[in-house]
Amino acid sequence: MEYKKHYSVLKAECIQYLTENADFSKKCFFADLTFGGGGHTFALKDTSPNSYVFSCDQDPDALKNGRERIEREGAVGKITLFDTNFVHFPEVVKREAPQVLVEGGFDGILLDLGVSSHHFDEATRGFSFRFEGPLDMRMDYDNPDIKTAAEILETYPEKELERIFREYGEERYSKKIAKRICETRVKDPIKTTKDLENILFHCYPKEDRYGKTNPSTRVFQALRIEVNQELDVITNVVDQLFPMLKIGGRLAIISFHSLEDRIVKNEFKKISQGLELFAEILTKKPILPSEQEILENSRSRSAKLRVIERVKAPREKNKYKHLSGQTNTFDDSSDDE
Ligand SMILES: C[S@@+](CC[C@H](N)C(=O)[O-])C[C@H]1O[C@@H](n2cnc3c(N)ncnc32)[C@H](O)[C@@H]1O
Repeated sequence: MEYKKHYSVLKAECIQYLTENADFSKKCFFADLTFGGGGHTFALKDTSPNSYVFSCDQDPDALKNGRERIEREGAVGKITLFDTNFVHFPEVVKREAPQVLVEGGFDGILLDLGVSSHHFDEATRGFSFRFEGPLDMRMDYDNPDIKTAAEILETYPEKELERIFREYGEERYSKKIAKRICETRVKDPIKTTKDLENILFHCYPKEDRYGKTNPSTRVFQALRIEVNQELDVITNVVDQLFPMLKIGGRLAIISFHSLEDRIVKNEFKKISQGLELFAEILTKKPILPSEQEILENSRSRSAKLRVIERVKAPREKNKYKHLSGQTNTFDDSSDDE
């Protein structure tokens, strides 16, 4: 299926952070664990003739499109694209690309979390209530071991559905919605995006139904997170990636909602308190897209970039402080430190 266009979020900022300490007179290794449309991967490859990028994705459309693009743009040998969930990326590198670790590790590793525009804009994937489509929502849609959103709605106990909507969607009406779903499913299976949207519509009070954001967004987000186990994979991979960095190497993560960002922030904090490897958190507050970027791509508005560097010994000053007020708008939320 044709891969829908994806705008790469915070691209210039990611490249700057990930390449700043790289010594391009030698081979440099980068990793992009969320290939998507390949925007960040190709930008990393283009940083120097000595740059090599190891990327992965779990989405068959992203992989097919990516392999064709790598071939078409003459990047075979410079970009290696693995078909894997990124939680397995460390093992895959050890097995398939051990030279990276033998030669000292990665200069930069990037995760640009979540789904791509392709997922939202392709009706057959079932991620969006804007189109009629099957309630699938699996990124890895040819994996029969993963439950689709429709299977979750059909089989999960009411209490579990309520928890998912509350925790992953921060949905106020989670109890009412879970109850309505369980009442409906005994009569009619809930198979399509529009079946679900219709149920949700009747769960919200009239004044909430026609706001700026469609209230169904929260339940769709919650289901997507549950289908793809999006929070667990982040929690499980971050501390495995850090030791794969060279000294001076950086791990940059872009998140798109507070649940993801909280995990990234906490994982970075834990790493920075480790006693065996030393780390410096470079983004005291997360980097946000500029107003210009948000104008060009409204989906970037919720993006937050955090970066951590592997250092030889703990440093004291955050030399990025000066960047904070200038090119980017910064989040002032009080829990950021
Ligand atoms: C936001 S998009 C990345 C866009 C990309 N940076 C670009 O510039 O085009 C996220 C991509 O990561 C993939 N992805 C998300 N979670 C994943 C996981 N756990 N394992 C592998 N790929 C994942 C999705 O399939 C999607 O293609």
